[in-house]
Amino acid sequence: MKYIIATDHAGVDVKNFTKELLQKMGHEVEDLGPFSTDRVDYPDYAETLSKRVVEVAGDVSEESDWRESGVFGILICGTGIGMSITANKVNGVRAGLCHDAYTSAMARAHNNANVLCFGARTSGEGTIESMIEAWDKTAFEGGRHLQRVKKINQLDR
Ligand code: RB5
Repeated sequence: MKYIIATDHAGVDVKNFTKELLQKMGHEVEDLGPFSTDRVDYPDYAETLSKRVVEVAGDVSEESDWRESGVFGILICGTGIGMSITANKVNGVRAGLCHDAYTSAMARAHNNANVLCFGARTSGEGTIESMIEAWDKTAFEGGRHLQRVKKINQLDR
């Protein structure tokens, strides 16, 4: 998979940790920054990353597991909240704010989420590792969950 990652100033070290982890897992990583801890505004990074994920994915059938597009996004901020709120305003993005392996697996299995958000100030390295592993191996279940995801997609502007 290609993972596109970004953060704000709160998560620069955590982004570097996440990038190394993904590369060790054999994934391609596109790092949209920032590359210093100077203060930035998380909506700018969330918007850029979200649009990039949708662009790289191209045409993705609503019926399919997003994984088939070959691209996922990861957004990190202090809590993950600002990133997830912003990312979900971009058409085609289903960003899940996750706190552990369970929420991460459910974001994929039930919501066909394509952007994983988490907090740099709320998640330790072990938790991040388990969230990413769960995200990476969990397939969208489709069925009744597809019906619901279609209803989310209808809200795209
Ligand atoms: C920055 O201090 C903090 O507000 C930001 O990283 C994030 O947690 C917002 O949701």
